[in-house]
This record gives sequence, structure tokens and C-alpha cells, in this order.
Amino acid sequence: MSAAPESQRMEKIVSLCKRRGFIFQSSEIYGGLNGLWDYGPLGVELKRNLKNYWWRMMVHERDDVVGMDGAILMNRSVWKASGHEDTFTDPMIDCRSCRARLRGDQLVEKKGVKQCPVCGGKDLTEPRAFNLMFKTYVGATEDESSLTYLRPETAQAIFVQFKNILEIARKKLPFGIAQIGKAFRNEINPRNFTFRSREFEQMELEYFCRAEEGMKLLEYWKEERLKFYENIGIPRTRLHVLTVPDDERAFYSKGTYDIEYDFPFGRQELEGVAYRTDYDLVQHQKASGKPLEYFDEETKQKFIPHVVEPSAGVDRTVLALICEAYSEDRAPDEKGKMEARIVLRFHPRIAPIKCGVFPLLKNNNQLVSKAKSIVDLLRPHMFIFYDESGAIGRRYRRQDEIGTPFGITVDFETLSEKDAKLRNTVTLRERDSMKQERVPIEDLPGLLLSRIS
Ligand code: GAP
Repeated sequence: MSAAPESQRMEKIVSLCKRRGFIFQSSEIYGGLNGLWDYGPLGVELKRNLKNYWWRMMVHERDDVVGMDGAILMNRSVWKASGHEDTFTDPMIDCRSCRARLRGDQLVEKKGVKQCPVCGGKDLTEPRAFNLMFKTYVGATEDESSLTYLRPETAQAIFVQFKNILEIARKKLPFGIAQIGKAFRNEINPRNFTFRSREFEQMELEYFCRAEEGMKLLEYWKEERLKFYENIGIPRTRLHVLTVPDDERAFYSKGTYDIEYDFPFGRQELEGVAYRTDYDLVQHQKASGKPLEYFDEETKQKFIPHVVEPSAGVDRTVLALICEAYSEDRAPDEKGKMEARIVLRFHPRIAPIKCGVFPLLKNNNQLVSKAKSIVDLLRPHMFIFYDESGAIGRRYRRQDEIGTPFGITVDFETLSEKDAKLRNTVTLRERDSMKQERVPIEDLPGLLLSRIS
């Protein structure tokens, strides 16, 4: 495992992300735009695998959750009713010495005096509330009447569609509505690579229940979510549950946990699990004048359900997955000499590419065509990468660095006329242990699927 100090480790991770096509600075050729990032060919695969696994766990493998995909722009009234227009703010402070614009909680305190973290200056403005929502105008007139916001969370679309979904999904309480989508926050000080971005994705579940079930379900969802992170390769020992203290919780929440991860830049939040009571539905019922109640057929009573919300960040989880996977070790080169190796030890289920397929030599038609037939065999089931260029050790190393868990090599034994036992078998190499096993080609789909799903 890597012994790199944490600051160097983060630099190496950022550099690998660019070098191998995971994450680029947005608009890079124009100097970039602070807090905005683009995902390259491997980053997009990693992100998709994460979102697909979340969807599988939270929607497909449950009877009590349905999905939706709401619009990013909504009627401004939504943001008035939810409280975002008035209160979705961060305290902003300016340093008069170096002109840095800071978030209140980013100041450093030395001997009881607050200082600018950039220049150490003590000449700071009073904090003022800065609303994090991006404004935009809908239609051809740019005035108050056409003003709305890019959504700062996906959750509100779920609340305002609650009644429609309740009617068509015919679910009884407790049940949930899940959504994955973009959210936007004009963060005062985006930092730590993609950790705090201005455009990001959330994976949110609003799990509606009776008031008396709220606290129990808060515990249940905290545990479910911890299991989820373990299932994608983030060990429990690197996760921490912070019970958000009463004075730091949203006023309507009766309990909130933050699930945190030990990033190289410190322990930071991956996900919030909050018991939001009936606050949101009550607000929208009041503001819209439309009933958002649930009718209990057994008791014949109508009431507004309460809600427990596990809300995870896609980009933060992708970053945690990369940080967790990054490792440096030593491996033998072509001649058996040990050399440094960079490995992304992704869990096979979220690795961008599942398997590399390599003919031992590129100028041997039989090896190449056999390797290509294996690609055709596996492609309907998983994302495969075919590579015929360079020494086989180099090809393994390239795949190790992007976290491909398996490599298949077609060699002369695969084509063997002499040894019937080896004919139509290949070597299957496992990334972390570098162990190789001999496997019949026909067994590959079943064997690999069992290891990546
Ligand atoms: N609906 C509840 C909600 O939005 P939140 O704690 O503000 O709660 C949920 O956000 C998650 O969204 C966070 O735990 C984090 O993973 C992600 N997130 C929030 N702001 C972010 C930002 N600026 N950049 C990246 N991810 C962010």
C-alpha cells in the first residue's frame, strides 16, 4: 500500500485523474471556470457504475421505492415555499488585505483572533448572508416575473410531485421516491478538487412514513447507506457517522447524521441522512393550496407524511472511490526486475473497465482473431478494452493504473494443437494479487459476471 504523505497523495490523484482521463477542468483551454469539472472517458464510466449501483440498490431491488427524473428548472414558488429563497445562504466574509472572499467557517483562529486562511490578515469584513442559488430567467423577458433558479438540490422535485406519484404508484406508507440528477450551488469558495463544486450530482431518496416511524427509519437508512459504501469498496473503518448537533441541524429536522469519509485533505461529508419531519410537504401544501395528504385506508384518516432523506453526492463519492482505490506498490517487469506500480484498486462492480483482452503478439493473426472473438463474447455483458500494443507487462500496467480488475491473455497455449487440455483456455489475471489462472474461454462470461456484479 501507498506510504505517500496525504498532501502528495492528493496531488498524485489529481494528476492521475487528468493523465488517464477521469476528470478534467471544465473549459480548460480558456483557463477553466472555478468549481466546475468535466468527466473524461473513464470518469464517466465510473460515475455511471456508481449511479447504476445506487439505483439498483435503492429502487430495483426494493418493492417500496419508485424513481423519478425531475426538471432542473422549476417554478420560483417552489423555492419560496421550501425556504431556499430566504435562507439557503452561507456567511460570506472578505479579507481586506488580500481581497480573498471566504466562507465564514473557513477562517482560521489563532490565539482567539480570526484570520484570513490565505494571507493571515486580520482585517476582515463582518459576515453577510450570500444566497447560493444561481439565478436565471425563463422566457424572453429578464425581470422579476421570469426569475427562477437552477435547483440547489433534487429533493424539491420529489416533494412537489408527491401527489402525482402517490396516485399512480399505489404504494402504502412507508414508501420512497428516488432521484439522481444535477444540482447547482454558487459556492463562495469551491475547493478540494471536485469535493466542493458549483455543479454536481446528487442521489436522493425521500422515504415517506408515519410520524411515529421517523426516528426508527432514520437509524435504518443510516445503516443501509453505510452498507452501500462498503459494497462499493469503501471500508467501514474509513467511514464515520457524525450526529449533527441540535444547534447545527436544519430547524425542521428531528435528527441528522452525516456520513463522512477520510479524504487525503481531511474527514469530510459524503452524505447526509436527515429526518425532515413533514416540513417540506406542509410548506408546499400551504403555498400551492393543493392537498398533499395521504389517505390511510385502514384508519380512514388523512395526514401529511413525514420523510427520512438519505442524500448522497455523486461527485464526492466518485472522489472518495478514487482516493480509496489509489495505491502504489511494486511489481516485476518483463525481466522479473521489481518496479513501481500505480494501481487503482476499485471494487470490480464500479471499475470503469471490467476486463482487458490481450493477444500475446499483435503480428500473429491467429492470436489476434482469437482475442477479438473473446471481446465479442464478453462485450454484451460488460465494458471490455482490447489492447494489442506493447509488451504484455506494459499492457497490464496500463490497466492497473486505471483500475481494470481483470486481464485476459491469449497465448500460444490457447491455440495449442498438442495439449488438448490447454486449447481454448486463456490466462485470467487479477489486478490486485497479479495472480493468474487458466480458464476455458467458454467459462469466461459466467466467471467474470459473478465477480463484477
Ligand atoms: N436534499 C438535502 C441536501 O441537499 P446537502 O447536505 O446540502 O443536503 C447532500 O447535500 C449531498 O450533496 C452532500 O452530502 C454532498 O455529498 C453533496 N453536495 C452538496 N454540496 C455539494 C457541492 N458543492 N459539491 C459537491 N457535492 C455537494
